[in-house]
This record gives sequence, C-alpha cells and structure tokens, in this order.
Amino acid sequence: MSERLRIVVQGASGRMGQAVLALLAEHPRFQLAAAMVSTTSSSLGRPLGPAWPGLVYRADWSGLSAFDLVIDFSGPAGFESAVNEAERHGAALVTGTTGLDAAAQARLDQAAQRIAVFHAANFSLGVAILGRLLAQAARALPDWDLEIVEAHHRRKEDAPSGTALALGRQAAHARGVKLDEVAVYAREGRCGPRTDGEIGFAVVRGGGIVGEHQALLIGPAERIELAHRADDRSIFARGAVTAADWLSLQAPGRYGMEELVADRGT
Ligand SMILES: NC(=O)c1ccc[n+]([C@@H]2O[C@H](COP(=O)([O-])OP(=O)(O)OC[C@H]3O[C@@H](n4cnc5c(N)ncnc54)[C@H](OP(=O)(O)O)[C@@H]3O)[C@@H](O)[C@H]2O)c1
Repeated sequence: MSERLRIVVQGASGRMGQAVLALLAEHPRFQLAAAMVSTTSSSLGRPLGPAWPGLVYRADWSGLSAFDLVIDFSGPAGFESAVNEAERHGAALVTGTTGLDAAAQARLDQAAQRIAVFHAANFSLGVAILGRLLAQAARALPDWDLEIVEAHHRRKEDAPSGTALALGRQAAHARGVKLDEVAVYAREGRCGPRTDGEIGFAVVRGGGIVGEHQALLIGPAERIELAHRADDRSIFARGAVTAADWLSLQAPGRYGMEELVADRGT
C-alpha cells in the first residue's frame, strides 16, 4: 500500500479547521503532519488530542518535515503564509479562505504556476451541482422568470449571500447576460410589474439556519424549483477534504469546484 499523504492544516483551531481535523483523523489517504495557528494563538503548544499523540498546535513552519498538501481555513490573516509555505515546499494548496482581494487572487495564480492550487468560497458539493443544474435550466428556458431565495441564520450580516449571488451569476452567464444588468435585489411599494429577463433575489433571516438556497424558474403555467439545504457546517470541511483528495492527483495549476464536479462526470 502506498504511503499516506502528509497534510498541514492552517487555521487548525478555528471552526472549519476543527471540522477538517475531525475528518482527517479517519481519512484513509491522508495523515496529519501539522496543525498551524497564529503566533498569538491561545492554542499554541496545546496537544491536538488522542487521535494525534505527540502533536501540538504550532505557529512555526520552520522545522516541519516534508509535507504534500496544505489545507487553509485561516482567513485573510493566515492565507499569505499558507500560500508561501505551500509553494516553498512544493506542496499542493486547498484554501477556503473567503473575501480574497484581487492581489490575493493574483498570488494564487502565480503560485499555480508551480503547485496545484484549489480555491473555493463554498466547498459544498451540493451547491456546486445546484449551480450547474441552474445554469442548464436557465439556458434551456430563457423566457422563464427566475427568482433566487436564500435563508440564513439571524447573525448573518450580508445579503444576499455570496452563494446566492454566485448562483445568479451562473444563471446570467448561461443566458449570455451580466448579473448586474438583470438583478433585482429589492421590491417595495408600487415597484411595477416584473420585467422580462429579471433575476430577482429574496432573503430570509432567522434562528440558526445554516444555509438554504432555492432557484425558482417560473413558466406560464408550470415551474421548476431547484433547492439546496445545508444541515451542518461539516459539509464545507467534507468538500475541502474531497477537493484535497482530488487535487493530490492533479498537475500544477489553478482549480475550483467547477473542475472538480466536471471531473466527477456531472
Ligand atoms: N469555502 C468554504 O466553504 C468556507 C466555509 C466556511 C468558512 N469559510 C472561510 O474559512 C475561513 C475560516 O472560517 P472559520 O469560521 O473557521 O473562522 P475561525 O473560526 O475564526 O477560524 C480561523 C482560525 O484561523 C486561525 N488563524 C488566524 N490567523 C492565523 C495565522 N496568521 N496563521 C495561522 N492561523 C491563523 C485562528 O486561530 P488562532 O486564533 O488560534 O490563531 C482561527 O481559529 C474564513 O475565511 C471563512 O469565511 C469558507
């Protein structure tokens, strides 16, 4: 049997980092090489737990023996060192850090000339498939009204969700238009009838809803409803580990959920 791949998790003490560690503990192809946190972390030096005897949370990359892959869920603060260290060690990089600006995206492109790089702002495989199904339906039914409804927990600060906007962009692209030109984000008062080609958004906020997205394609006397519901944040960690598994077999380059789901034959 071939040796297991050595993985470093950046942002290991966080919500996503912990979910990734839990999955790695049982993964048949992966072995945890190191769990990284910030230099000011309250977790520094703390043992990882019984699944990894002898391993502690650390911030210093020097002295790490060879590793094959970095999974980064540290946010913008740790993103740069994750890319630098992955590139320096010739390791593949999976990053789920969101809110990357143009410079950070350019840094990923640059690193992708030497190593395999996978970035996704949403690692849910189900959402990736929903996007594909929606694009297919929007293209096939260009005259049907399209509405996207999303629901999230009461603490969410932005609206519509980044995923709802990404779904809108996929549908608009499939119809050969730009989302900015057709999106309607609010309807209130006497806003007049719906115009042709609009993509409307509606937002629900409440309780602890993890994340729900529904696309309604509404025709003259019939409609299609495509929906995805996330029950648990672990789906994002599972998607990242699946992406890591897939990425370990790819050549250097830039990859995302589109390439992953395309390769799964969908
Ligand atoms: N792509 C997706 O599907 C997806 C899903 C959910 C979340 N996210 C994104 O993933 C990121 C993390 O989310 P989260 O909810 O897990 O956040 P979180 O709970 O705040 O965890 C982030 C962790 O990163 C660590 N960190 C901060 N600076 C670091 C540095 N310089 N080096 C190493 N580690 C550092 C922090 O640990 P210490 O304080 O202990 O250092 C913190 O615990 C965010 O960007 C979030 O938007 C993406």
